[in-house]
Amino acid sequence: MNSPQASLLTLAIALSLAALPPGAAARDVLLADYAVTAKKDDPAFAGFSAARGEAFHRKRFAGGKPDSPACTSCHADDPRAAGRTPAGKTIDAVAVSVSSTRYLDPAKVEKWFRRNCQDVLGRECRAQEKGDWLSYMLSR
Ligand code: HEC
Repeated sequence: MNSPQASLLTLAIALSLAALPPGAAARDVLLADYAVTAKKDDPAFAGFSAARGEAFHRKRFAGGKPDSPACTSCHADDPRAAGRTPAGKTIDAVAVSVSSTRYLDPAKVEKWFRRNCQDVLGRECRAQEKGDWLSYMLSR
């Protein structure tokens, strides 16, 4: 099976598989996008790391708002648990294993990254930070 037809068939199957779970595909596109930017930011970039994402999730920063020095100021230490805003509003778990509908809407993901990174770091998160954090949430 090495004819052009066979290759086309393989391609068609690959494409329909990629389109199958719309959620997973949307997340892959988001991660691929972050990877392109991360590579532009740093040519030495060699892929995202869930372990780095976990460290980032827990890290305390000094540049943001005093009542939200870390992602864990609102999201739970263990992303499979529910979080809580300073105002006391419950936030659903951010781990995909618990909240299966998360990160399907890139506009929503970007909106919250922008807002939360400003609150915690006092700046936007870099593409690598976002990709690492997302990889951690996808791994939990
Ligand atoms: C001040 C509270 C607060 C802090 C601190 C915070 N978040 Fe959030 N985050 C929220 C709220 C509220 C939502 C939206 C409600 C929801 O999605 O359940 C949210 C949603 C998100 C989403 C979108 C999830 C989705 O389903 O698309 C991402 C991504 C996110 N946060 C990342 C982070 C990261 C990364 C940090 C640390 C740099 C962080 N957050 C720190 C409150 C916070």
